[in-house]
Amino acid sequence: MTRYSLGAIVLHWLIAFALAFELALGFAMPRGVEGFALFQLHKSVGISILALTILRLGWRLAHPRPAPLESGWAHRMAHAVHVGFYLFMLLAPLTGWALVSTAPIKVPTLLFGTLPLPHLPLADSFNPAVEEAHELLAWFGIALFLLHVAGAVRHEILLRDRLLERMAPGGSRPLGAVLALGVIALGLGAFLSIGGAKPGGEPDSVALAPVAPSPAAQEAADTLPAAEETSPAATESSAPVPIWAISPGGRLTFKLGNGDAGVIEGSFGKWQGAIAFDPERPETADIRITIDLASASVGDSTQDGMLAGDEFFAVSRFSKAVFTAKSARKTGGDRYTASGTLQLKGTSRPQTISFRLTGSGLARKVQGSATVARAAFGVGEGAAAESLDPNVSVNFSFDARGTVPAE
Ligand code: HEM
Ligand code: HEM
Repeated sequence: MTRYSLGAIVLHWLIAFALAFELALGFAMPRGVEGFALFQLHKSVGISILALTILRLGWRLAHPRPAPLESGWAHRMAHAVHVGFYLFMLLAPLTGWALVSTAPIKVPTLLFGTLPLPHLPLADSFNPAVEEAHELLAWFGIALFLLHVAGAVRHEILLRDRLLERMAPGGSRPLGAVLALGVIALGLGAFLSIGGAKPGGEPDSVALAPVAPSPAAQEAADTLPAAEETSPAATESSAPVPIWAISPGGRLTFKLGNGDAGVIEGSFGKWQGAIAFDPERPETADIRITIDLASASVGDSTQDGMLAGDEFFAVSRFSKAVFTAKSARKTGGDRYTASGTLQLKGTSRPQTISFRLTGSGLARKVQGSATVARAAFGVGEGAAAESLDPNVSVNFSFDARGTVPAE
């Protein structure tokens, strides 16, 4: 029986495996911080499919396919599925490319971590349409895939005309069957393992540097002016105010909406605190939290580069953000607020944080949050930030160990 040329066969199976993986990845990749590496992989595999498809079409022109085995409706249907596949193989990657090129936040793409992919020169207003098209095409591809496999099974089981041999390397049906099952297994396996890996759990791919009470923090804590001197309320009681060291493993995260593109979540890997605080006398508090802005990460190195840039933190000029508060207030139970000042990107503004203390004595857990009006600090300027929410919600949690300075 006449077969497809070896080049056509190799390209058919290569693209089939890549597509099964790509579709599974597209549907299963998590959309938050933890998905960024998978997004880069999705874009890399997608563009590879585009390149392979162009090669395949060129090959097809130079090497005509073997004559069809059937005529009539079955032939027309198979032909339609094949044409549909070629359209899908071109349009799915192109709409994906258009999608990232028109996204409100332009995340640079590095194919397989090395080759930069430029953005297509398209107006951002196309974004919703291409996003819709990309998803619809994915479903169209799945429908074609089901029809195509049903057709292959029909030929194998009902017609027994050995059609598979035409597309199998060396004309080997067993090898063709193994490849077909392999494509299906890869698609299902990838979907289940990527989607099931982190069912809504904490992102685990974001490497957080442990927040150790670094020598600098310790020094800051040591040199913190005694609360008696700094707080007006100190006169009410002269007892020393405990100084707290932040234990490793604390988290400082941020989150903000990004229009239709969902929510951006990230964290600061490096920050430290010098905290003098007595839960019974919150008015004597003296809090200073220093955040290393270059450690801000949303889990994707290229997007992190944007965060460090002038439109966001401008870390080359302003490497640190500092929150200071000279007193706190109990708002009920184990809850407190501290109103102080946030110094960020060359601007100082009033800022309130609220937190909750659990635990007892000198071993406490601290959990809290703040809402930061980013624009007031000039964080998030330019077109890249247009659809970003004006408020960033910042959350922190850490364990703290207190020591009472000797009187
Ligand atoms: C996993 C199961 C698959 C099996 C068993 C299979 C089998 C086959 C067979 C036997 C042919 C030759 C048909 C003929 O001679 O008339 C064929 C052609 C074709 N297949 Fe697949 N295929 C599979 C997956 C895919 C996938 C995922 C794609 C998506 C791109 C695809 C795209 C095509 C195209 C476009 C042709 C037509 C080639 C041409 O004439 O230019 N196949 N396939
Ligand atoms: C054959 C190639 C491709 C296929 C089959 C494919 C498939 C998919 C699928 C199934 C989804 C999930 C749809 C949804 O649930 O909304 C998706 C999402 C996405 N794809 Fe692709 N894709 C391909 C190529 C690309 C390329 C080349 C890029 C970029 C260069 C890309 C970028 C994206 C993006 C950014 C999303 C997320 C959309 C969102 O959640 O808002 N894709 N893709």
